[in-house]
This record gives sequence, C-alpha cells and structure tokens, in this order.
Amino acid sequence: MHKIILDCDPGHDDAIAILLAAGNPMIDLLAITTVAGNQTIEKVTRNALSVCAIAGIEVPVARGADRPLVEPQRVAGDIHGASGLDGPVLPAPAFVLDERHAVTLLVDTVMAHEPGEITLVATGPLTNIALAMLTEPAIVDRVKRVVVMGGAYTRGNTTPAAEFNIAVDPEAAEAVFRGSWDVTMVGLDLTHQALATTELHERVRAIGGPVSRFVLDVWEFFGQTYRSVYGFEHPPIHDACCVAAVIDPTVFTTARADVRVELRGQWTRGMTVVDFADVLGMHHGTGRDYRADVAVQLDWGRFADLVVDAITRLGE
Ligand code: BDR
Ligand code: CA
Repeated sequence: MHKIILDCDPGHDDAIAILLAAGNPMIDLLAITTVAGNQTIEKVTRNALSVCAIAGIEVPVARGADRPLVEPQRVAGDIHGASGLDGPVLPAPAFVLDERHAVTLLVDTVMAHEPGEITLVATGPLTNIALAMLTEPAIVDRVKRVVVMGGAYTRGNTTPAAEFNIAVDPEAAEAVFRGSWDVTMVGLDLTHQALATTELHERVRAIGGPVSRFVLDVWEFFGQTYRSVYGFEHPPIHDACCVAAVIDPTVFTTARADVRVELRGQWTRGMTVVDFADVLGMHHGTGRDYRADVAVQLDWGRFADLVVDAITRLGE
C-alpha cells in the first residue's frame, strides 16, 4: 500500500485524481488538503467534500492556503467554471472539514509516520507544501517523494512559458523543487497525453451508476472548455497522472533533470527551466542538481485501465 496525502484544488482533473486515489486498492489515501488555485479556497474545498460525497470517500479533508505566497490570487474560471467544478450536479458535503489548517494536517500526518512512508501528491499551486516545509523543515527528510502536477519543458498553458500551478505561485514551486527531497515533475508534456478520449468515455459510460455519471459530466464540461480555450479535441486528465504514477511507476517514463523555476523573467516568470542530465556537453554542470524525475512518455492504455478500474470499484 502506498500512503499518500493529496493536496489539490478541485478542479475537474483534481476530482478524477481523488477518485483514482480512493478507488485504487494500492493507495491508502490518508488525507485530502485543499489550496486556492482553480477557484477560491472556499469553492475548491467545498468541491473536494462534494467529490467525497459522490463516491462515499471518508478521509480527513482540510482547508489550506487562500492565496499564493507573493503573487496576487489568480483563478481559472475560464477552464473550470465559476464553481471550480462546473458541469456535474454537486451534492452537499456528507461530513465536516477537519478543523486543522491543511498545513498543520500535512505536517502532523507526515511527522506521525515513519521516514519514507508518505508520498505527497500535489495537484494545485504548491503554496501549502511550501508553507509546510517552512513550518516543519523535518518533513523534507521524512517524505518519500513529492509528485507534482506542474510545469512543462516545452510550453506553458497560462503564459507561453508557464503552466498554471507554477504560474499561480512561483515562489512556492521554487521552494519545493529546491528542497532536498525526491520530486517527480508531471508537466504538461506528459499530461497532454492523458486525454479523456471517446474510447475512455465509452468505457466509463458502460460502468453506469452515479460515479460514472459524475465522471462523464466532468469530462463533458472540461472537454468543452478545453475545446474552446485551447482547441483540444479531448480534455487532458492532468492531475490523475500523478496518482497513477504512485500506483504504477511504469505508467510513464521519466528523465533525470535539474528543474529551476524562473522567478524574475518579464515574459517567463513561473516557467520550469528543465536541464536534462542526459544532454551531455550542453551545459557546464556548475551548481546543477540533477535530482528531479521529469515525466516524459505516458502509457495511455495502462493509465486508462487504472481510471476505469477505480471508477468501477467506487461504483460497487
Ligand atoms: C493544472 O491546472 C489546473 O487547471 C488543473 O487542475 C491542473 O492541475 C493544469 O495546468
Ligand atoms: Ca489541479
């Protein structure tokens, strides 16, 4: 069993990440923490509770940072709608929030477990994770790995250079990538391969029941915005890729790299500057730190099977 804490901003693809984590028997979902990102902290927290209600998930859910460390708050209403999870009917929460702040819950949970036991899966801006590092630096040695949906080594989706989760809180992202823990960067280069295709729709439709209906409604809305805003034929299920990688590390290939977050560029602030270790002779090596694993190539079939399996189990 892989123990994880899912730090997220649901969010359509975050919702699928929650379902995959709760529905896969290899994952022990210890807690869900929320962070302002796709929408305000009130909205994404409420959405997290609604997703739990839809799928009968009972784990501690704690509300986290309501704004980035330095940047003014920015939300993605054009992609995720006014609620942050427009499209499906959202039921009332079935339980109340954990009364702790997300950062306290994160720190408490990591410190209560043995070193190397917990993987942090971060699918929103990295504000909570950076604050947790500041609050209790010992978590860095205790966490097994941080799997981040964020960044890109080709192009951004929020600016030409920057992906949304990094663009929202670049300082937090830089702190996480500079931490002396193992980080996997699951950027747009990877997640744009994780499409909810017509085939995947049909497989989920065949499952039937309320969880299947919810997922189809999520993809319907997300598909419309991705079509109109980005010209995609099918929507990418970005955040679920991180959970899939914890379940099965062979779901995508990775390459070692040094990842820096640009904090000063006029046009490139929030860009992940990825220096791949195997690009021999290109760089001079001074001060470089090739510790991050950057996701490169997705095995879509394996990914799709994991998503279908989790939805099937949650519907039983
Ligand atoms: C990321 O930004 C959000 O809109 C998604 O939930 C995902 O985490 C993709 O850039
Ligand atoms: Ca997200």
